[in-house]
Amino acid sequence: MLKKAVLLLLPFLILSLFFLINATALNENVPIVGPMVKKDQRKSLVSTDYGQISAVDISTDGERGSYPYHLQFIKLEPDALFLPVVLHVDMVFYVHTGSGRLSWADEDETRHVKLRKGDVYRLEPGTVFFVQSDFQRQKLRINAIFANSADDLHEPSIGAYYSSIHDLVLGFDKRILQAAFKVPVEVIEAITNGTKQPAIVHGVPKKERTFWEWEAQLMKRILGSKGYSMFDVNNKKKKTKTFNMFSGKPDFENCNGWSLTVTKKDLNALKGSNIGLFMVNLTKGSMLGPHWNPMATEVMIVLQGQGMVRVVCSSTMKESKCRNRRFRVEEGDVFAVPRFHPMAQMAFNNESLVFMGFSTTTKKNQHQFLAGKSSVLQTLDKHVLAASFNVTNTTIDQLLAPRGESIILDCTSCAEEEEWIMGEEEKKREEEEESRKREEEASRREEEEARKRGEQTQQEEAQNDEEEEQRQRQQEVEARRQEKEATRREQAAAAKREEQEREKRPEAVNNRSKKRKKLEKKSVGLAVAAREREEEF
Ligand SMILES: *[C@@H]1O[C@H](CO)[C@@H](O)[C@H](O)[C@H]1NC(C)=O
Ligand SMILES: *[C@@H]1O[C@H](CO)[C@@H](O)[C@H](O)[C@H]1NC(C)=O
Ligand SMILES: *[C@@H]1O[C@H](CO)[C@@H](O)[C@H](O)[C@H]1NC(C)=O
Ligand SMILES: *[C@@H]1O[C@H](CO)[C@@H](O)[C@H](O)[C@H]1NC(C)=O
Ligand SMILES: *[C@@H]1O[C@H](CO)[C@@H](O)[C@H](O)[C@H]1NC(C)=O
Repeated sequence: MLKKAVLLLLPFLILSLFFLINATALNENVPIVGPMVKKDQRKSLVSTDYGQISAVDISTDGERGSYPYHLQFIKLEPDALFLPVVLHVDMVFYVHTGSGRLSWADEDETRHVKLRKGDVYRLEPGTVFFVQSDFQRQKLRINAIFANSADDLHEPSIGAYYSSIHDLVLGFDKRILQAAFKVPVEVIEAITNGTKQPAIVHGVPKKERTFWEWEAQLMKRILGSKGYSMFDVNNKKKKTKTFNMFSGKPDFENCNGWSLTVTKKDLNALKGSNIGLFMVNLTKGSMLGPHWNPMATEVMIVLQGQGMVRVVCSSTMKESKCRNRRFRVEEGDVFAVPRFHPMAQMAFNNESLVFMGFSTTTKKNQHQFLAGKSSVLQTLDKHVLAASFNVTNTTIDQLLAPRGESIILDCTSCAEEEEWIMGEEEKKREEEEESRKREEEASRREEEEARKRGEQTQQEEAQNDEEEEQRQRQQEVEARRQEKEATRREQAAAAKREEQEREKRPEAVNNRSKKRKKLEKKSVGLAVAAREREEEF
């Protein structure tokens, strides 16, 4: 019974296996965004005379299926307006250049915060907000990351991190809008009559600005029923304050640079968010020492200068998916490093390297450094270390003797050297690739030939098979014939022998009688002769 069922299911099993294999093959084809995205690889989402929005989806490789981090770069020309949108997910942002004003709709009023270079802020899902740039020379540039908040496990649908108020409002027809807004029908008509606006428009005069505020306000009221709220009622004041990277106190600072992490303590608005921020400034020829983050993936954006990044695979990763990397980064590049992957960032000798990062935790700086006073190695038993490196414990002592700070250090020409090694590796890889291609080509050709030959041989074989069969048949017939012949001969021989045997005895008898006959003949002859002789006389 079971056997029968299995037999019946077998074709389906094979079929589903086939689809499974196919499906994984298809998945392989889904472009996995690498761990580094150059500035010119950003995807443009909006481009008008008044501003641009570009986006980067970045995921750390080796973590297949990991959710890619979505970043947007919003650039507003002086005196431009990013029209109101409602946010679907958490948004944490950093003001890279310029200044302006962020406005969002609260329960009962529109709130504003001034934005200036270095400011950091977070907006919760459901917030209706808009941004205006100041009328000054510098563009307002905002680097934003979008992510789920701590208590919201819904995966945002890709591409819909926020939606425009315009689309939301005009999705309803006039009667509903009129009933909802409780305004004269002309107002609704005027709104629905308006042409669709791009996401960024020219800044509107002060007087008209109130219109957007009014609209955002009303939208907030409609959406407010969903239970979204920008504020804990208790700390309204605190949450309307941004945090500025340049006025904050660095976690670490020496002549080689500084680093700073923004925590919930620094920025109240980060409460409930999964995203933390940090910033590092490495002066010329310095390095952020080898370290890893055991808590979070880090997505970093280069704000200024150029440098090299070295990322080492953590050994738990499959070697095939993850290899040690080094790459050169410059202003505008984005790179991601997964948790537990040791990394080091280096500035070239001629330029300082400044980068900011989003990390997927809001906890205080969790970096674990390999060397120096705070090295994790310091906490391990020396003998154990000696064993793991297969060196004497004296060597380990020497290794760990310098107990200075080893967070941001002088590393003159390190970046240059890394770049040189990268170039060499590149060359080697290219050569390998080349020879691999050649080999592939050769084996392909060989296969082709083998296939052709195979076809021939197959034909020949088929022919041979037939001949062989015939031959065999003939042989069999022959053998059978010979066998028969042999038996026949044997039988004949046996029969002969028997006959001979049988004949032998009578022959002996015959012989004797013949002799007798001869003798008789002889005697007859003698008698005749005698008689003849007698007759002569
Ligand atoms: C709406 O547009 C139509 C034609 O484009 C125009 O006739 C009408 O007056 C407009 N209504 C309002 C309220 O602006
Ligand atoms: C980084 O540090 C260098 C040298 O200390 C300084 O000239 C530069 O302005 C700093 N950059 C930023 C963005 O703070
Ligand atoms: C700094 O040095 C690097 C490596 O030698 C070079 O590629 C880069 O162009 C230099 N930057 C400037 C601003 O000269
Ligand atoms: C450790 O090093 C010694 C030489 O210093 C060598 O003889 C030995 O084979 C090494 N052990 C392992 C496991 O590599
Ligand atoms: C190294 O370890 C050996 C035992 O394995 C011990 O006798 C020796 O004193 C140690 N040396 C140092 C410098 O700790």
